[in-house]
Amino acid sequence: MALPDSLLITGASQLLTLRGHGPRRGDSLSNLALIENGALLVRDGLVAAVGTRAEVEKLPEARGAEKIDLGGRVALPGFVDSHTHLVHAASRAEEYELKIAGASYEEIARKGGGILNSVKKLRAATSEVLKKRATAALKLFAAYGTTTVEAKSGYGLDVASELKILRLHKELAAEQPLEIVSTFLGAHVVPAEYRGKAGGAEKYIELMERHLLPEIGENRLAEFCDVFCDRGAFTVEQSKRVLQAGRQWGLEPRMHAEQLSRTGAARLAVLMRAASCDHLEQVNKGDIQALGKSETVATLLPGCDFHLGLKQYAPARALIDAGAVVALATDYNPGTSPTLSMPMILSLACTQLRMTPAEAIAAATINAAYALRREKPVGSLEVGKQADIAVFEVADYREIPYYFGVSHCWMTVKRGRVIHAIEQAPI
Ligand code: NIG
Ligand code: FE
Repeated sequence: MALPDSLLITGASQLLTLRGHGPRRGDSLSNLALIENGALLVRDGLVAAVGTRAEVEKLPEARGAEKIDLGGRVALPGFVDSHTHLVHAASRAEEYELKIAGASYEEIARKGGGILNSVKKLRAATSEVLKKRATAALKLFAAYGTTTVEAKSGYGLDVASELKILRLHKELAAEQPLEIVSTFLGAHVVPAEYRGKAGGAEKYIELMERHLLPEIGENRLAEFCDVFCDRGAFTVEQSKRVLQAGRQWGLEPRMHAEQLSRTGAARLAVLMRAASCDHLEQVNKGDIQALGKSETVATLLPGCDFHLGLKQYAPARALIDAGAVVALATDYNPGTSPTLSMPMILSLACTQLRMTPAEAIAAATINAAYALRREKPVGSLEVGKQADIAVFEVADYREIPYYFGVSHCWMTVKRGRVIHAIEQAPI
């Protein structure tokens, strides 16, 4: 008897399961737990069996299941994009030209551009307009093989606008197939109306403590609290205060750390047992050692350095050698990384961070799931976990980062449902 919700997926020349225990550190980052001629049985959106085609096909339930044949393509867990600024109103193409002409990211920010430029645009935009843009982006995330997306607020920076973004995260999570993990980033920068006054940053932090975090905590509008701890944004002391306040409302810390200057943010992340600290271009040896010994995931965002034309990428090899849990993410945002393509990030990880294709894939799946504290339901293809699968039109997984700037994602499955598929070319 066919079980209505069973799905048998066969024909994966390489099935990268990423199964195993704990986050991938050091040598284990290259372990994809690859099955040749692999198959999966999916029941009610979860993985019911995984193995070789022969092993899975002989299960009684497989016989009556709906079937998909991948025709020799490569299948892997859907990417977990653990760092995005999903909701924003518009591109900053005008700043792109200034950067090409030689202006630095910080110079543009000091002149009222940068994050404050996006804040002006977001405050003026309606929820409907923002939702339309984010929904279109989420469709593209899926088309590039991503099945879980973290989303940060941080372009509102006043009570109404931050809540507008966080409520949108909730609506988007309910109305489209990708999973959205919501993060409050009220501490992105000090908003214009608090600048130039003595104690302006502290007054803004007070606003977050008194008027934003209680509302966010009571209505469960976010799971994490993030801070941009850097020159021109928040100090280590201020960041600690914001993250502690977030924790009191049940929001776990994560950080933007050591991107533009070395501040000690990564040490604070380790000290506070943050879920993740992200960027890390400017870390020193001590920071690398501290991350190597901690559970805090070191999330690298090479799209930023690529887009800003910077030479100094994060020291991925040293972090891996030190035993850090390294993850990769797009940092999809209009200022430093306007891409939602995880395959492009894998290409950058290989050529610029000198990670191997296997390491990059593990960093973008299972380790990224750890960065979001979602390692139980997603990040690998194991019995009981969600059937979140990306299928690529390649015969060898190394071709996923090898081809750059084009998408070879052939099919994306979220909780057992096909959410993206390339039409077969007519013969
Ligand atoms: O992750 N560094 C801070 N936040 C973003 C940039 C945001 C922006 O420029 O709009 C980042 O790079
Ligand atoms: Fe960011």
